[in-house]
Amino acid sequence: MQSDNVQQTDVQSDNMQQNDAQQGKTQSEILQQDGERVARSGPPSTATDLEKMGSGAMFDAIAHRYDMLNRVLSLGVDQGWRRRTVEALDLPSGARVLDVATGTGDLALRIARIGGVQVDGVDPSTNMLALAQEKAVRAETPNVSFHEGDAQALPYANDTFDACCIAFGIRNVPDRRAGVREMARVTKAGGRVAILELSEPRSGILGPLARFHIRQVVPWVGGVLSGAREYRYLQQSVAAFPPPEEFAALLEDCGLNVLRVESLTFGVCCLYVCAVSQQ
Ligand SMILES: C[S@@+](CC[C@H](N)C(=O)[O-])C[C@H]1O[C@@H](n2cnc3c(N)ncnc32)[C@H](O)[C@@H]1O
Repeated sequence: MQSDNVQQTDVQSDNMQQNDAQQGKTQSEILQQDGERVARSGPPSTATDLEKMGSGAMFDAIAHRYDMLNRVLSLGVDQGWRRRTVEALDLPSGARVLDVATGTGDLALRIARIGGVQVDGVDPSTNMLALAQEKAVRAETPNVSFHEGDAQALPYANDTFDACCIAFGIRNVPDRRAGVREMARVTKAGGRVAILELSEPRSGILGPLARFHIRQVVPWVGGVLSGAREYRYLQQSVAAFPPPEEFAALLEDCGLNVLRVESLTFGVCCLYVCAVSQQ
């Protein structure tokens, strides 16, 4: 187919974390307190606060509840979507794979379970990465490593990876074109790039129900369970994301051949399966 209002300073935050560490708290407990400090701080009021929506800083604040909220808000189907994404990568044996906006590492860890592959996960959120690292240790997956980085300037040389993926991340990248071009740049020609992203179902019998879920249920349940306003951002950013045909055209513009677009769960989610164009 061609187709967050962090009102405390970094120093205050560091001091609080040191005190927590001295009191013998686990990493997860410290992260949870961090999130609650940010969540209590009210709605975004300045340009800087708004810029933080969707950024690593925002995800730092909700990291401790991110996995639980994912399961609840997606009614448990998010892991099935990630499984589809791994299948779509069609990985050769011994593949080196990059997971961009890896967050708490669910997709990277799923790929790493395939024998013989080497996986890198990149994300700007230190708290999300700390949880990913804890999960990798618990799962005894030494073939995955996590690094801080921005999708718009990936810290890798050209043609480093056999395949690349991003799940629920491209929506948060301020310059999407730059993010897609970077994924194409670091992936070898012909290698697969799989992009999984939420979308607003626009048609179908269950479209109105799915729209109600994402417009009303997700922000409300997300707000109640996380105590934070970030889940309103989730609904707004999904509504603002381009429809599948438009996003597929952007992918083509940025050096990818779109092989197919899979509409998942009544169109709530789309999987864009691409290959890096041969030069
Ligand atoms: C909704 S989470 C998705 C996490 C994970 N991929 C998953 O499947 O659960 C979005 C992630 O995008 C990351 N992110 C935000 N801005 C980014 C950027 N400019 N470059 C890379 N990742 C970014 C956030 O820190 C967050 O971890």
